[in-house]
Amino acid sequence: MHLTREEEKALEGELGPAVRKAYEILVALGDMFGAERLIPISGAHISGLSYRTLGDHGVHFIKTLSGARFRVPTTINPIGFDVCRWREMSISDEFYEKQTEVLDIFRRMGANPVCTCTPYHIHAPRRGEHLAYAESSAVVYANSILGAMTNREGGPSALAAAIAGKTPLYGMQVPENRKARCRVEVLFTPNHARCSALGLYLGATLGDAIPIIAFPERPDETCLKLMGAAMAASGSVPMFHVEGVTPEWKEAGEGEERMAVGVEDVEGYIESSLPPEVDAVVIGCPHLSPGELAALSRILPPKVRLPLFVFTSRWALESARDAVREMEMKGARVYADTCMVVSPFLSPYRRILTNSGKAYNYLRMRKFGGHDVWIADAETIARYLS
Ligand code: F3S
Repeated sequence: MHLTREEEKALEGELGPAVRKAYEILVALGDMFGAERLIPISGAHISGLSYRTLGDHGVHFIKTLSGARFRVPTTINPIGFDVCRWREMSISDEFYEKQTEVLDIFRRMGANPVCTCTPYHIHAPRRGEHLAYAESSAVVYANSILGAMTNREGGPSALAAAIAGKTPLYGMQVPENRKARCRVEVLFTPNHARCSALGLYLGATLGDAIPIIAFPERPDETCLKLMGAAMAASGSVPMFHVEGVTPEWKEAGEGEERMAVGVEDVEGYIESSLPPEVDAVVIGCPHLSPGELAALSRILPPKVRLPLFVFTSRWALESARDAVREMEMKGARVYADTCMVVSPFLSPYRRILTNSGKAYNYLRMRKFGGHDVWIADAETIARYLS
């Protein structure tokens, strides 16, 4: 990979060991993917910061880079608890201390400690901006719905990119690589549960192939957000196009392959009847926007009959205070900074109901508790809770 004189100096350690390490990571990545050079980015988003997923090895790695400062605006993913309500989440003192240490390191390095997987709701990147995002649901959202350009970074490469302010030029950073490889004809009316299930189905079927999707009716933005998150969880799709909706669909082409998806293809993920009882209901994967919080508060019954946990960013929580207050009065608990997957607090609850395909995918994994999980749309969940 061609490096400028300045980049070579950084790689040789003239800017300190942490910057050198960051450049080593970026150059190794660039060499692996055949990138010609590094390009400047306008922002980075780093994932994998919960102590639940980091463990002591991860904390040690972060410390090796902690002498550097971020050169571009950098946001971070949810951590293991709500920083204001961690005591009610049965978080141990040890977990609290280790997690706080990680958060402090990122603050000192210059991150915006928003602790959300939806940084695009707080500041939406513009079309064509180069980014280094490491949260797969945010990668798909930024590429597909906003037309920004980011590869699906891992936590360490996003961290390195934030320190260097650069990323290797390959993959989704190159316009020609953003074309569709498969045309998907959806044969049902989209709603949130079906789009979550569709995302799981497409991720598992397409692997990393970019689809252009035609719906019989225009899906709302929450449908696309849930579908993209699920698609990135069950597969490694970096973006999708939706005919007539997403910003790059006209340049996407149609790809060589064709497939049609009917209700029968996705109904395996959605139970036709819900179990009489679950232990808890979780909503907010990815984190809810202020509009989604308001919509949820309107449909919840006056008193929810089961534990209901809702996840969002602190920014959205403060932007939708009335909706949050109303939900709390109805019995929900609305948490910021964390989520049902990266926090250990959900462990005592075995049977979980959610509207999210991504949460469905992860919560069933042994690593994240091996829960029994059902998917339904938010309206069905609201009726179930009354
Ligand atoms: Fe966000 Fe946690 Fe889901 S990080 S996308 S709410 S698994």
